[in-house]
Amino acid sequence: MSGSAGIQQGSPAIGAAGSAPAAPGAGGTEGSGATVGSARIAVKKAQLRSSPRPKKLEKLGVYSSCKAEGACKCNSWKSQNPPPTPPRTDQQPNTFNLQDPCRSCSHTLGDHVTHLENVSEEEMNRLLGIALDVEYLNTCVHKEEDADTKQVYFSLFKLLRKCILQMGRPVVEAQESPPFEKPSIEQGVNNFVQYKFSHLPSKERQTIVELAKMFLNQINYWQLETPSQRRQRAPADDAAGYKVNYTRWLCYCNVPQFCDSLPRYETTQIFGRTLLRSVFTVMRKQLLEQARQEKDKLPPEKRTLILTHFPKFLSMLEEEVYSHSSPIWSEEFLAGSSGGPIPIHTGKTHLTFSQLKRKPSEPLPHEETKKLRIVGDIPMELINEVMATITDPASMLGPETSLLSAHSARDEAARLEERRGVIEFHVIGNSLNQKPNKRILMWLVGLQNVFSHQLPRMPKEYITRLVFDPKHKTLSLIKDGRVIGGICFRMFPSQSFTEIVFCAVTSNEQVKGYGTHLMNHLKEYHIKHDILNFLTYADEYAIGYFKKQGFSKDIKVPMAKYLGYIKDYEGATLMGCELNPSIPYTEFSVIIKKQKEIIKKLIERKQAQIRKVYPGLSCFKEGVRQIPIESIPGIRETGWKPVGKGKELKDPDQLYSTLKTILQHVKSHQNAWPFMEPVKKTEAPGYYQVIRFPMDLKTMSERLKSRYYTTRKLFMADMQRIFTNCREYNPPESEYYKCANLLEKFFYTKIKEAGLIEK
Ligand code: ACO
Repeated sequence: MSGSAGIQQGSPAIGAAGSAPAAPGAGGTEGSGATVGSARIAVKKAQLRSSPRPKKLEKLGVYSSCKAEGACKCNSWKSQNPPPTPPRTDQQPNTFNLQDPCRSCSHTLGDHVTHLENVSEEEMNRLLGIALDVEYLNTCVHKEEDADTKQVYFSLFKLLRKCILQMGRPVVEAQESPPFEKPSIEQGVNNFVQYKFSHLPSKERQTIVELAKMFLNQINYWQLETPSQRRQRAPADDAAGYKVNYTRWLCYCNVPQFCDSLPRYETTQIFGRTLLRSVFTVMRKQLLEQARQEKDKLPPEKRTLILTHFPKFLSMLEEEVYSHSSPIWSEEFLAGSSGGPIPIHTGKTHLTFSQLKRKPSEPLPHEETKKLRIVGDIPMELINEVMATITDPASMLGPETSLLSAHSARDEAARLEERRGVIEFHVIGNSLNQKPNKRILMWLVGLQNVFSHQLPRMPKEYITRLVFDPKHKTLSLIKDGRVIGGICFRMFPSQSFTEIVFCAVTSNEQVKGYGTHLMNHLKEYHIKHDILNFLTYADEYAIGYFKKQGFSKDIKVPMAKYLGYIKDYEGATLMGCELNPSIPYTEFSVIIKKQKEIIKKLIERKQAQIRKVYPGLSCFKEGVRQIPIESIPGIRETGWKPVGKGKELKDPDQLYSTLKTILQHVKSHQNAWPFMEPVKKTEAPGYYQVIRFPMDLKTMSERLKSRYYTTRKLFMADMQRIFTNCREYNPPESEYYKCANLLEKFFYTKIKEAGLIEK
């Protein structure tokens, strides 16, 4: 049998802190032969190291050339009584002495080991360790059936033999030395945790960190499939690339687990996304299967973690592993998150990442070089530093406990209840294809009751018809097993919108934040399904509620898209809501709270740096009516800067018309076409993961119309954002990039002409 056959062989039990590595050629079943294999070598080494010196010399003599008269060509002392094959050093009687002749050249054992005469015991033991590894590898070479693996074992066997002969240290000679890809798997997973879960309260974040550690630990002891096994399973994959990584993995990670004279590295520290991609799908399947099989053996405190959270964690990670634009694999993310709040290590580090030198490698593809940093923003390092000081939720504005303050967000109580499992959200519907599920039917009846009670003007039969219509779905809110609210909706994917048909919460549960949390869940559900517009006919009494959920009477969806598709209700007002795919709506208020806290801390820090107190201004007493801001003593030290020299238009109408003219000019410029409307998610995959503050000329026109630009600075900042975003996302040789440069130049000419900045 092949020692490397059986991908799962030797992988640690799910949730296990330690692990049982698989020995090459150990030929055992999962965990058994593997453990025994590596343990056996360790025992042999210990026995040999404690044996008398003649025995040690005899052992090393086998790997030493004869030095007699300087002309002997023999390179290995051979006993007159050959030991059994494989040699059983531990059980042989100690009958050797230095005068014993070699079977091959007749010179004595002493002639072969003269170079070891003055060698320290420590060095002898090191060489003996290598000698046993050589013997073990020799066995592996003979037992191994897979040609690629056999070849690597043989190369390592030769390398270690040479080391004993030359009394050197083993260094695997290869074109590249580790790490082979950056960011490493460990760093990528670390980034993933920060990217997806940094908004969670520290306790829950800790659970995620535990899952991440568990996952990394699994990879470090994962048996990779051989290149030929892989070729059979995935013939379309890059076979040559996989073989290179497989060879590296054997040399640097797998074989050194047993042959400890070879330097050992953790898989997660020296490999990156490429290797992870080649193992993830199989690994995920097997880990989940393993978890299912072991579920009864799991300790109770680990059950939920492994059976509930781990599958979700793996699904989310899978998306990032295979996505073309995930930011977690960007080196910039790595820089931004260094010193971040949750560095994850597997705890078995032999060599830290920072100790490893990176060889210059091929340039990364464009998608990987996209930056997350926004020019002019607060450095990520500083934000991370501040974040680390506010891990205690109680210290944030508004406590996260059940004692909700007046400042708490409306949905906070509901979010906490969901976390504690008091309430649940499910999208359900009736189906004509599937067998009716009793529980779902009960919930649909419950929803029909809630809607009928809360919307008394709607005919009950009509509500029943829509709730049970297979084209409609309902996001239901369940408390204590019964329905207490819901939103019934119909999706029109071809028209890119969804109609909200009914929305209600049962009377005694209203104004507790459930309505808000329901809507937030509905928003996230639609972002997942790529529909970014809601339309609804809101009851006269519900307009206030919908406004608070981001709905407006100003409908963004063109009429042609919805006319004839949605029902027109008499006496109700059509309202719409455009979703922003980069907002995690159910966590939005927590994130805002955290951002507020970060800003508060940053201000406190700045204030602490400026200790000097200046005397008050006396000029006003002396009759001066006005002074320039920059002449106030100490103001510049606070970081205040005049907003570029230029004219600040004080008259709002004058400012409005000047900005309107400039915007008009910009929009009519021949290079403005890429920036006219918000970037469409479908046209620029991953755009909203890379660009965190999108801006476009249409949004600017709307902002101008709503009199948002109360200063020229706000206007200029938005315009600048358009150009910066474009250059962040697109490569310099792209047409978009060139348009951004040309339009920017034009824009600055126009604002100079208008006197908003100095010429
Ligand atoms: N008018 C004005 N504001 C309202 C209304 C209302 N009718 N209802 C809730 N709000 C406000 C709340 O005061 C709260 O504001 P705040 O955050 O500033 O304090 C905010 O909206 C959200 O409150 P929640 O507690 O999250 O919402 P609730 O759980 O009460 O659910 C809902 C809101 C669904 C409108 C509920 O009150 C209800 O069922 N009402 C009766 C049925 C109804 O009118 N449904 C809408 C009909 S239109 C349609 O279905 C398409």
